[in-house]
Amino acid sequence: MPRSAAYFDGWYADMAGSAAKDEIMRRHLRLPPYLLSTSSLGWDGIGEVTEALRLSPGDILLDLACGRGGYGLEIAARSGAVLVGVDFSAEAVRQARDLAQRLGRQADFRTGDLAATGLGARSVGAVLCVDAIQFAEQPDAAYREVRRVLAPGGRAVLTCWEPLDPADGRVLGRLRRVNLRAGLTAAGFGDVQVRERPRWRACERAMWQEAVSIDPGDDPALRSFRDEALRSLETFGLIRRVMASATAPLTSAGPLRPADKPGLPVRSAEDTDVGWGDQTEPDDDQRFSRDRPPHWDSA
Ligand SMILES: C[S@@+](CC[C@H](N)C(=O)[O-])C[C@H]1O[C@@H](n2cnc3c(N)ncnc32)[C@H](O)[C@@H]1O
Repeated sequence: MPRSAAYFDGWYADMAGSAAKDEIMRRHLRLPPYLLSTSSLGWDGIGEVTEALRLSPGDILLDLACGRGGYGLEIAARSGAVLVGVDFSAEAVRQARDLAQRLGRQADFRTGDLAATGLGARSVGAVLCVDAIQFAEQPDAAYREVRRVLAPGGRAVLTCWEPLDPADGRVLGRLRRVNLRAGLTAAGFGDVQVRERPRWRACERAMWQEAVSIDPGDDPALRSFRDEALRSLETFGLIRRVMASATAPLTSAGPLRPADKPGLPVRSAEDTDVGWGDQTEPDDDQRFSRDRPPHWDSA
């Protein structure tokens, strides 16, 4: 069953009192102290997602199911985009607004559903959805909503996990139905690319391994983190980490063909599932510090 907004309200309220959970996540995902995450997207991944969004200063970026807003705020700061964050948890939205205020950033965080954001048709230039599309009650409706709110030529970038075998009953039901390529294509997107990100998994695994070994004491956020870690490690090898990107068609007539948009890379069917870069290279600490944005230290 999909998780309710009330469930997530409680989850976020517990988290607000647990600096320990955030510290563990930040360390493994290599996130700066100001970036509050409730998922598994690490620092390198943020760079890849930002690149795939192809934002220009002033573009409106929707962070869909934004949680506490950390990723959207970071990407807006890097790109100069104007951020709108939507989540159905009022508590998440409250914490996201607090975070934006603490960081001195302008952003519009509001409540809304994955399948009914409340935003106008063609009103945003890009949509980001980090590790959340699997929660949609009706996934097809959520993909359609992403397409509806995007202006022609706008970009959608989603991160998630997909089952290696959708019939494998050991995989969590909500992850078993994730198929980013099928969902985006059926919603009318063009230029759909789904790439496996094995290197992102290394820090995710290390994070879960530390989480299972902690004594949560009476910290409810740590308890739920440890439970999630146990579940995640049990099925770790049964799912793959993926990042999808797609482009909204320039006309309402149908999916975008590469020829519709000059400058879009034309890709063949064979290379759409090929990873970017060398995913086997070890993490590079020097690159990590070199890639710190100027706002890292001032935040
Ligand atoms: C794993 S968290 C990820 C949050 C954020 N994207 C991040 O990466 O930090 C999943 C988020 O999806 C939100 N969510 C789940 N179902 C939703 C729905 N039907 N509509 C809107 N938000 C939803 C939850 O409230 C939660 O904030």
